[in-house]
Amino acid sequence: MLTPRLVVITYFSGRKGGTGKSTIASNQAIALSMALKTNVVLIDFGIDSTQTSSRLLGINPDRPGALDYVVGSTRDVNQVIVRSNVVPSVFVVPPGSLKSWDLWGSSMSVNQAFNALRNLIITASRITNAQVVIIDLPASIDDVVVVPSLINSNIINLVMDYANYADIVLAELDNSIVRPLSVQLKLNPIVNVVLNKWLPGLDAVESKARAFAHNGEVFVLPTSPIVQYLTSTLKPFILYEPRGSLERFVKEFNKMVNELIKQVKVLLGF
Ligand SMILES: Nc1ncnc2c1ncn2[C@@H]1O[C@H](COP(=O)(O)OP(=O)(O)OP(=O)(O)O)[C@@H](O)[C@H]1O
Ligand SMILES: [Mg+2]
Repeated sequence: MLTPRLVVITYFSGRKGGTGKSTIASNQAIALSMALKTNVVLIDFGIDSTQTSSRLLGINPDRPGALDYVVGSTRDVNQVIVRSNVVPSVFVVPPGSLKSWDLWGSSMSVNQAFNALRNLIITASRITNAQVVIIDLPASIDDVVVVPSLINSNIINLVMDYANYADIVLAELDNSIVRPLSVQLKLNPIVNVVLNKWLPGLDAVESKARAFAHNGEVFVLPTSPIVQYLTSTLKPFILYEPRGSLERFVKEFNKMVNELIKQVKVLLGF
């Protein structure tokens, strides 16, 4: 089988939950599919969680999905992939019917999970003719899917809460997860840092965060009550007219999308 040319972009926050991974990943799936004029697959690993990115894309996550495929309980990628009801150029693989406690006692190795996920990524992109595959990770470092997803990634977006101590949190993630990818596994993904939910009055930590953006950029996204409202009511903000706090947010969000487009184009060789 020929490997299609595709780019895998992953949203990761270590153990910290609620930093905005799903909000950003699902809206960027839409934005990238429109800008690059390609289909995009979003693999939602919101296992044990709110499955926000599937819901934002109009998918009822209560159906077989990514974890079912990774553990081998279904082998047909067509069964786990579904076209978004909101934007037809985006396809979703919801988390699935399993929870991570279903894997307790299972003998699955990181290597098996890596291979299964690799198959899912390649087959899903081939079936849907997608050049971009987005992975939305859960707030975890030891779920069976986290390390396999990071190993499969061309671009890793570390999505953090903007905080005066963001550099300390980033240093910890860098030491424990990101650097071992390059030092031990000889991988060289682009690593971007997203400092989300900025508020006036916080210390500027962007320059310190830069040390953790390997071949990538630092993006600062402001706190926006409209973004919070739209995600909470399961509507992708990207589809709404930007006004007020949404306008300020989308201006910064679009800077990130434009940089991702550049990174994707370089990786795809155009
Ligand atoms: N820039 C922002 N301004 C205001 N609210 C935001 C912003 N970004 C995200 N939120 C809100 O933060 C909450 C968490 O967002 P989201 O579910 O996307 O985070 P997550 O990192 O995917 O969470 P989890 O770790 O549970 O998967 C949501 O209510 C969302 O609306
Ligand atoms: Mg999430």
